[in-house]
Amino acid sequence: MPKKDHKITMLGTGLIGMFYTKTLHEHRGHDRVHCVYSRSETRAKEFAGEWGIPRYTTDMADAINDEETDVVVIGLPNNLHKQAIELAAAAGKSILCTKPLALNGQEALEILELVEASGVFHGYLEDLCYPPKTLKALESVQKGAIGQVTWTRAREAHPGPHSDWFWDPAQSGGGAILDLGCHCIEIGRNYIGKHIRPVEVMCWADTLVKPINAEDNAIALVKYETGAISQIEVSWTFRGGMELKDEVAGTEGTIRIDHWLRTGFEIFSAGGTGDYVAEKSESSTGWLFPVGDEVHALGYTHMFTDMLDALDNGTQPMETFYDGYVVNAIMDACYASVKSKKWEPVQLPVWRGGDQKIEKIGPKEYDASHWLIKEEKMPDGTIKIILKDKSSGVISQKIQE
Ligand SMILES: NC(=O)c1ccc[n+]([C@@H]2O[C@H](COP(=O)([O-])OP(=O)(O)OC[C@H]3O[C@@H](n4cnc5c(N)ncnc54)[C@H](O)[C@@H]3O)[C@@H](O)[C@H]2O)c1
Repeated sequence: MPKKDHKITMLGTGLIGMFYTKTLHEHRGHDRVHCVYSRSETRAKEFAGEWGIPRYTTDMADAINDEETDVVVIGLPNNLHKQAIELAAAAGKSILCTKPLALNGQEALEILELVEASGVFHGYLEDLCYPPKTLKALESVQKGAIGQVTWTRAREAHPGPHSDWFWDPAQSGGGAILDLGCHCIEIGRNYIGKHIRPVEVMCWADTLVKPINAEDNAIALVKYETGAISQIEVSWTFRGGMELKDEVAGTEGTIRIDHWLRTGFEIFSAGGTGDYVAEKSESSTGWLFPVGDEVHALGYTHMFTDMLDALDNGTQPMETFYDGYVVNAIMDACYASVKSKKWEPVQLPVWRGGDQKIEKIGPKEYDASHWLIKEEKMPDGTIKIILKDKSSGVISQKIQE
């Protein structure tokens, strides 16, 4: 399929607007940002100049309705996503929106229904499901390399966001759960399997350090239909840089990935160079944890390739607004559980799990009358097998002959 050249309207000139534009211009050179929107004329002009963007405007509707662009990329504060999506859908443009899709599950569902009624292409820009390491790990899991997934752990922790609006729930919709938990939830969901329904959530959150009306730390357990658990850990008060790590446990294997900080790349510099080291790095001297290519390591490159290839090929990208909606619904259950201190159901008025058979996690059969509990090679070289009799329940052991 020949690739089309897309002309893009970029909404927002902040951190994510910069990362997205950098990715598009550096790695998919034939797609270009053609028009950029920012509230500030000075910033819009500066950004357009920096990235060679032909048009800039301080009028969001004008940017979206630019006659030459076919794709709108949304990199605005969370409370503006819906407004931007409404305008872009009305203009019949393809829409790629950053995370979180919406402020809550209800708003996310309205957005999903809106784009589906308009028939426009939609992609959920969840970059942390696209790092090359994650894509490779997902492929292994999907091919059965670690058996059935029993548990996932995704942790995102850093010293807090870089702009005022994140800290104000009236604009952001929430704290560390909404900002970082959305990534962790979708990482877990990808490993466990998107056709498997998230059932209920137990969550602790607190405002430990910052003077804000939102949580700055949280841990949640999301329980899935198979019995698998997805653990998410988020913090806006972690010191020392940004921790981004994932672990996956399965009945036949384990995966562990460090995306940031401890990636195997460390530099010690007594005086430093004064240069930027990596996102959310707290130090530019001493032991440093740089990243070779940030947009690649964070998944932006593969994410835009998937999104725009899907658009060209008339297929769906790996992450759509439906996925954004499921993530928002899970986060709603997190907030409900923080309040009630109980397991809370995930409310999914629309669920598209498909008709794939859902197998509960359970024991492995040893023979017709026994379950296998464990097999272990002992120091003397013998192999010990621990079994449970299916009918009597008696647990026994034997040495393999
Ligand atoms: N890894 C990721 O996927 C990732 C990383 C960072 C941010 N984000 C998301 O991107 C979005 C923007 O975050 P950011 O980090 O770029 O924030 P930012 O503060 O760096 O930039 C926000 C942009 O929106 C503009 N803006 C702010 N308030 C506005 C208003 N009231 N009206 C119009 N424009 C306004 C700012 O001028 C700026 O251009 C958020 O939804 C955030 O969750 C995603």
